[in-house]
Formats: sequence, structure tokens, C-alpha cells
Amino acid sequence: MTDSRQRVYLVTGGAGFIGSNFIHYMFNKYDDEIFLINLDKLTYAGNLKNLSDIEKRDNYRFVRADICDREAVSKIFKEYDVDRVVHFAAESHVDRSIKDPEVFVRTNVLGTATLINCVKEAWQKEDGSFLEDHRFLHVSTDEVYGSLDEPKEGQEPDYFYETTPYDPHSPYSASKASSDFIVKAYVDTYSFPANITNCSNNYGAYQFPEKLIPLVIHNALSGKSLPVYGDGKNVRDWLYVMDHAKGIDMVLEKGKPGETYNIGGHNERQNIQIIKTILDTLLELLPEDDDRRGNVSYDLITYVTDRLGHDRRYAIAPDKIKSEIGWEPDTCFEDGIKLTVKWYLENEEWVKDVTSGDYQKYYEEMYEN
Ligand code: NAD
Ligand code: TYD
Repeated sequence: MTDSRQRVYLVTGGAGFIGSNFIHYMFNKYDDEIFLINLDKLTYAGNLKNLSDIEKRDNYRFVRADICDREAVSKIFKEYDVDRVVHFAAESHVDRSIKDPEVFVRTNVLGTATLINCVKEAWQKEDGSFLEDHRFLHVSTDEVYGSLDEPKEGQEPDYFYETTPYDPHSPYSASKASSDFIVKAYVDTYSFPANITNCSNNYGAYQFPEKLIPLVIHNALSGKSLPVYGDGKNVRDWLYVMDHAKGIDMVLEKGKPGETYNIGGHNERQNIQIIKTILDTLLELLPEDDDRRGNVSYDLITYVTDRLGHDRRYAIAPDKIKSEIGWEPDTCFEDGIKLTVKWYLENEEWVKDVTSGDYQKYYEEMYEN
């Protein structure tokens, strides 16, 4: 059971990439001062191996459940006095959303609506106000703002600000935008104590190798082609996942209720630059006698048909979170990419597991009841 001095967190989607890094960050920082419940459905993207060093802690619980399951979510609030909800659970891959949009609407929109309503029921007092010092943080994306043009010669580049109108293009970003509007509606209608964070593309350990950076590392090591969509000049603004985790913690503690904060560190790179940097970093870090070295080559770069509706450029203006909360990233891209490539080199088993689907079969059996 929880200790009355411990602050209680409910994290949704904590077995995924950012969620599991956030859980590591929180236990590193707060150790026994917190009690943390991780609610995750364990889709293909959720992997409890990300948390194997955490699961034996007395102040950690895992609950396998779907955020669309009202009963399962409410049960947690009956068992625990939850102070903070950090909502990561989502379908998160743009390419999958183009193939199969419906599951994105179900989890990201209906799931967020179900979750936030359960939280409202648990935290709202009879007079309509909410329990003191309780906070819901909805983790969203800069993709809700749409796409920016490349800066023209002599012109100042555009950035996404918290005030930039929403203009999502992919089924993924449309579903995230909808979920943001549900959270905003709870803030405006009930004065529900929520924050929204919209961050740029994350990278780091434990990212499923369907996203650009881990896919390139994995394919290059096995000598497979590196698919570059379109001309390779689309720009993403990269954020080291532990800097993101720090930002979420700071918004929970210092953010003004109801406010949105953009999280990004001005790390804009063209996709083709990212791919070349990864190849260079692999060659720098792989020992001379490592068999995988021979596979790594610029010749693997293969231009393929562009993604449908491919957003050209994302770039965050992080001025508000810096001035109001004091957040700044600690990790520059050059260091972050080295740490990331090193992690994938040292954790080949993890990559094998998630790509083979073995871990999924295992957890189906583990949690069949
Ligand atoms: P991920 O796909 O790695 O993990 C998602 C997690 O949610 C998985 O553990 C999965 O099992 C769980 N999940 C999925 N559907 C669920 C459901 N119905 N009920 C309960 N759990 C469910 O995603 P991620 O990259 O860690 O992203 C986390 C959050 O951050 C998402 O909300 C995403 O939109 C947002 N985000 C991600 C990025 C990025 O670069 N990865 C950037 C901006 C915002
Ligand atoms: P991705 O990691 O899927 O993130 P998002 O679409 O949410 O930004 O893709 C990052 C960028 O890399 C995006 O512009 C699409 C591009 N991309 C490729 O060129 N090849 C690939 O194989 C993948 C997965 C992405």
C-alpha cells in the first residue's frame, strides 16, 4: 500500500518509449518519495522489459488495462488516492495511422475522453471544485499545429507557439488534436486541473524500431536499406527523451493549471542529415573487429515514395516553458545521438525481442487472466 507521505502518480502508456523513460526519470529523481502506478494495454508498442529494473520496487504497480475501459480505470482511483495523472497512452505512429486510422480515433480520442472523465469523477468535490494540488498532464505533440515552410533566404524562420492555430494533417495528428480539445474543454467547462504539453520528435533508448532513428540504427546494423521518404529534406525538431521527462515533471510541479506548454530544444535537422549522422556515429562507436561494421554504409540510403500528406517541417518555440517554468534541455543533439546509438548497440537483444514479437506472445500468456 502507499505511504501517506508519498505522492501517488498514475502513468498511462508507461510501457512505451517515452512513458518508460519517464518512469526511470521519476524513480531516479524521487526514489521512495513517490508511488507510481503504470496503466498500459501492452499493444505492440508496450514492452515491460523496458521496466525490468523497476518492477520489483515496493512503490511501483503495473496494471494491464485499456484506457477505454472505464471500469478498470475507475478501479484504480478507488484503490489509490492518485495526486498526478500523466497521460502518455496512445497510438503514436503516423505511418500506421495512414494505414489504419480507426484505432487511433478509438485510443487517442475515446481513450482520452474516458480517462479524463474517470479522473474528474474521482477528483471533483460536491461543490464542483477539485481536490487541492491534483494535476492531470496530457502529453501531446507539435504535429497538431500542422506543417511549417522552409525559411526563405533572408527571412526569419517560423515556429510553433502555444498560440499557433491547430491544423493537423495526418490521422495521427488529427486524433491527438481532438484529444487536446477534449482536455481543453474540461479545463474551460469544469476548471479541471490539467496541463497539455506539445513536444517535438523524441529520441533515445527504448524507442520501437518503426520510428526513423531506431529504424535506421537497426537496419544499418543488419545491412538493410534505409528508406528515405521523398527528397529526405523534411525537417524534424529532435528532443532527447530524458529532457522531455524532465520537462513533464517541471510542468507538473510549476505549470499554471489549464496552460499549454511547448517542449522543444531548437534541434532542427533534415531527415537525410539524421540518417548520415547515425551512420557516422555507428562507424565511430563500433569496434574494428565487430562483424556488424561491414554492414554500415551510405550505400544503404534508398529514396522511396513519399509518405502521404508528409508534413514538411516541424519546429518548436520553447520560449514559454523556458521563461515561466525555467526548463531547458540538458542534452545537445550530438551527445544525445551518441547515447542513443550506444544504447542500441548494447541492447541488441531488446531490439530482437520487439521485432520478433516474442515478448508480445510472452505477455499474452503472462496476463491472459
Ligand atoms: P509508444 O507508441 O512508444 O507507446 C505508447 C504506449 O501506450 C504503449 O506502451 C502502448 O502499449 C500503450 N497503449 C496504446 N494504446 C493503449 C490503450 N488503449 N490503453 C492503454 N495503453 C495503451 O508512444 P511514445 O512514443 O512513447 O509516445 C507517448 C506519448 O507521447 C503519445 O501520447 C504520443 O502521442 C506523444 N508524443 C510522442 C512523440 C514521439 O516522438 N515519440 C512526440 C510527441 C508526442
Ligand atoms: P517518424 O519517426 O515516423 O516520426 P514523425 O512522422 O512523427 O515525425 O518520422 C520522422 C521523419 O522521418 C518523417 O519526416 C518521416 C521520415 N521517415 C523516413 O524518411 N523513413 C522512414 O523509414 C521513417 C520511419 C520515417
